[in-house]
Amino acid sequence: MTLQIKPSGGALGAEIIGADLTQPLDEATFAQIRDAFYKHEVVFFRGRELSDEDHIRFSARFGELRKLKIGNPLHDHHPEIFVVSNIKKEGKHIGSYDAGVFWHTDGAYLARPHAVSALRALQVPVVDGRVLGDTQFASSTAAYDALSPSMKKRIDGLQAVHSILRRLDKTQQSGIKKDYSSAVKSDPEATHPLVRTHPVTGRKCLYVTEGYTARILGLPEDESSDLIAELTQHCIKPEFIYRHHWQQYDLVMWDDCSTTHKATFDYPETTPRLMHRTTVVS
Ligand code: SIN
Repeated sequence: MTLQIKPSGGALGAEIIGADLTQPLDEATFAQIRDAFYKHEVVFFRGRELSDEDHIRFSARFGELRKLKIGNPLHDHHPEIFVVSNIKKEGKHIGSYDAGVFWHTDGAYLARPHAVSALRALQVPVVDGRVLGDTQFASSTAAYDALSPSMKKRIDGLQAVHSILRRLDKTQQSGIKKDYSSAVKSDPEATHPLVRTHPVTGRKCLYVTEGYTARILGLPEDESSDLIAELTQHCIKPEFIYRHHWQQYDLVMWDDCSTTHKATFDYPETTPRLMHRTTVVS
């Protein structure tokens, strides 16, 4: 099967046309998708409804999927599926309702952060005939490449701590109430290089986000927070961004090493949005 790859025209993002993800893919077709994915950092497939089984089978081609703990609403059927939704049943949210409030990369606070995420739109929020709730993605490779030689030299070899507590603080400051106590107990933080070398492409990626990066080791507190602020602002310059306008059934995959992302909460809380996500661990 020959696929059509339609780049967004920006620093990252491409649509892949012609892949039937409802069926197991042959090696040659998967190789085209894999190549396009690592080249464009964010890819999407649209126009075809997938089941959870299709979603899991396809994303597992990229590596081991993270299985979620008991308590995850789909645990009994699909522990690999993380639900992102504002929908409530019997007064309780059926999934994560604050995923993507801040620029972040999934699982940065884990010793083995996520490598690849795949988010599928089961229900998109429509207001006055327009689909809202876009997701923005920023290329951390393009951001790294655009740094000045002196900044590249300054940050070379630095290590940063990524913490769930940072996210908790920021989430609470934004007025959202959320209980992170189990995550805080099990996996509070992890240290990663500020500049990661991508395990597949070998490209350098700036691994720093507003949502999770708490401090840079070896720097005084002020200098550490100033540098985090400078780099995170740099990473989200418009020229590094692809903005995904969702359609129902879209499956969007992103590279968690070479990109960061942020959701857009521009629809009323009562307008339902339902997404299923799988993640490949690194
Ligand atoms: C996420 O941050 O994983 C979810 C992004 C979104 O819901 O748009």
